[in-house]
Amino acid sequence: MSNYHIKHLEEYYQVYRKSVRNPEGFWEEIAEEHFMWRKKWDNVLSWDFSKPEVKWFEGAQLNITENCIDRHLATRGEKTAILFEPNNPSDPAEHITYNQLHQRVNKFANVLKNQGVQKGDRVCIYLPMIPELAISVLACARIGAIHSVVFAGFSSTALATRINDSDCKMVITSDGSYRGAKTIDLKGIVDEALEICPDVNTVLVVKRINTDINMVTGRDHWLQPLLDAASTDCEPEIMNAEDPLFILYTSGSTGQPKGMVHSTGGYMVYAAYTFKNVFQYREKDVYWCTADIGWITGHSYIVYGPLANGATTVMFEGVPSYPDFGRFWEVVQKHKVTQFYTAPTAIRALAKQGLELVEKYDLSSLKVLGSVGEPINEEAWHWYNDNIGKKNSPIVDTWWQTETGGIMITPIPYVTPTKPTYATLPFIGIQPALMDEEGKELKGNQVDGRLCIKYPWPSMARTIWGNHQRYKDTYFSAYKNMYFTGDGALRDEVGYYRITGRVDDVIIVSGHNLGTAPIEDAVNEHPAVAESAIVGFPHDVKGNALYGYVILKDTGESRNHDNLRKEINQIITEHIGPIAKLDKIQFTSGLPKTRSGKIMRRILRKIAGNDTSNLGDTSTLLNPEVVQDIMDNVL
Ligand code: WT7
Repeated sequence: MSNYHIKHLEEYYQVYRKSVRNPEGFWEEIAEEHFMWRKKWDNVLSWDFSKPEVKWFEGAQLNITENCIDRHLATRGEKTAILFEPNNPSDPAEHITYNQLHQRVNKFANVLKNQGVQKGDRVCIYLPMIPELAISVLACARIGAIHSVVFAGFSSTALATRINDSDCKMVITSDGSYRGAKTIDLKGIVDEALEICPDVNTVLVVKRINTDINMVTGRDHWLQPLLDAASTDCEPEIMNAEDPLFILYTSGSTGQPKGMVHSTGGYMVYAAYTFKNVFQYREKDVYWCTADIGWITGHSYIVYGPLANGATTVMFEGVPSYPDFGRFWEVVQKHKVTQFYTAPTAIRALAKQGLELVEKYDLSSLKVLGSVGEPINEEAWHWYNDNIGKKNSPIVDTWWQTETGGIMITPIPYVTPTKPTYATLPFIGIQPALMDEEGKELKGNQVDGRLCIKYPWPSMARTIWGNHQRYKDTYFSAYKNMYFTGDGALRDEVGYYRITGRVDDVIIVSGHNLGTAPIEDAVNEHPAVAESAIVGFPHDVKGNALYGYVILKDTGESRNHDNLRKEINQIITEHIGPIAKLDKIQFTSGLPKTRSGKIMRRILRKIAGNDTSNLGDTSTLLNPEVVQDIMDNVL
C-alpha cells in the first residue's frame, strides 16, 4: 500500500526519504492506487531541465472529471460535492450533490460541444464565484477543452490581453456579479474587452443579478435555455496525461502576463495527494477555501484537489466584510466547517475588527487552519491561532505558486510541529535548494538564499503558452538544472523553511501577485508622465502596498498633483484592475540609475519603506544627487 495519508512525523520522514530516493517509484504507486486511468503509463517520468521538458505518466490516458465526479457516484452520489454559500446571507445555501454535479457538468459540456468547442480549444471563463464557475471548468475538462479562467476582478484590457494571448474562441461570463452591497457589470466589461478580441465568436451568459444587458445577436447566448435543451449524458473525452488541462495567467517582469500551462495527469495526482495530507481531509469533513477560482489556489484546492478526494468543498460568493466582518465565522458555524484556508491579508483585516465578531460564533468544528499567498507575519499568525483555532487547530502555512500547481512547502497538520512564520518542511517528493548569488548551493542548516527546486514534481507547469523560451528564461536559466522560484528563503537550525519574499520584480499585494512592469507601462500611458518606477512598501493589512515614483514631462505648465494621482490610478484600474492601484505617488525630478541605465529599485524600496539607515553605496550611481531629493520629498 502506498502512503496516501501521512499520520505522524516519523511516517513523514520515512515517506519523504522514499519519495526522494525513488521519485518515480513513489509517484507511480500513488498514481496507481488512488486514481482512475483509462490506460496506464508507459513511463513515469522523463525530464531535462535544460530544455526544459518534463513529462509525467507519459502514455497514460484519463479524464480528470471521471476522477473528480464519476468514480464517486456509486458510494457518494448523494453526498454534497459543492456547497455554495451566496453573497447575501439570507439567500439559501445550495448543496450540489455528486449526482447533481455529474448531471450539471455533463449538460454544460454538451452545450460547449453544441456551440462547436472541440478538444484542445481554449475557453475563457470570466465568472464570479457561483456554481457555474466550477461547473464550466469541469465541463471544459470533460470534453478536453483547455480552460483559461480570468479572475473577475481584472479589467477589460487585462481580460482582452489574456483572451488574445491564448486565442480563446469562447467566453463564459454572467450578466453581473454581487460583491458585498455592490453589483458589478461583468458583461459590460466583457463587451468592452471583445472590441479588441476579433476571434471570439461565442459568449455564454449566466443570469446572476438579473439586470438588463446588451446581447450581441449571433454572438451572445443566455446559458440557461441551452442547458435546458442539453442531454445529461456526456462521455468524457479520453486525454493523454500530458495534454494541457488549463492555462492560468500570472504576472511577470514584462507587461505580457505568462499563461502557465498545466498538464492533466501529473496535476491531478499532485493536487489530490497534497489536498488529502495538507488538510488531513476525512470523509465527513466540510472544507472551505476562501480563495477565488480565478487563482491557482481555487483551481487546485477548491475544485480539483477536493473533488478528486470526494470531498465537500465550500464555494463562497461573498466578501469577508459583508454584511459585517463576522461573515467568515458565521459561515464556519453555519456549515460546521472543518478546514478553513485563507490568506494573511484577510486575517490581518479581520484581526483589526473587534473580537466580539469572532466570539459570537461557534467555531468548534474547525480542525485545520490554512494560510496561503504571502508570508504570514507573527502577529497575524498568533491572532489566527489564538482566536480562530483556540490553540487547538494547527495552522498550515502553505508556500507554493501558480507555476507549481500544488503546495510545495508546508506543515502537515497534527504531524509537523508548527512554528510561526515558517512554512516548515518540504512536502513529500519536493526537493528544495537554497542558492547563493554565484549559483552555489548552500548546504546544511542556518542558511539564507534563493529558493530553487532540484527535481521535477508531478504538477509543475510545463510551459508558458506560446512562449517556451520565456518559460526557460524565467525559471530555468538563473541556476543550472534547477527550477528558480523567484523567492528568497532561509532554512533554520532544524531544517525548517521560512519564505522571506520575492527577490524579483514581483510584488505581492493582498496576496495578489503583481509585476512592476505592467503597472509602470500603465502609468506611462498617462500623457503627462515621462517615466515611472513602482516598488512595494510594508502595509499592515495588505502585506505590501504600491509606491510609485513618477517623473512628469516638462511642459512648462503646472499641474494639479492630486488630480494627476487620480488619473494615474484610473489608468491602472482600466489596464489591470483596482488591485494594482498605487497607495502613494511621489512626483520626482529623477530616478536613481546605474551607469548602464537600470533603475536602482533597491534604493527606492528602502526610501518608500522608510528604512534609509543603510542605503548602501550610492556614489556609483549615474545621478547620486537625486537620492537626497527623493528622500526629502518622500510621502
Ligand atoms: C508567490 C506565488 C500559491 C497560491 C497563491 C499565490 C508568495 C505564496 C506563500 C507563503 C510566503 C508565499 C510567494 C510565491 N507566497 N504562498 N505561504 N509564504 N510567501 O500564487 O500568485 O502564483 O504567487 O506568492 O512569493 O512566489 P501566486
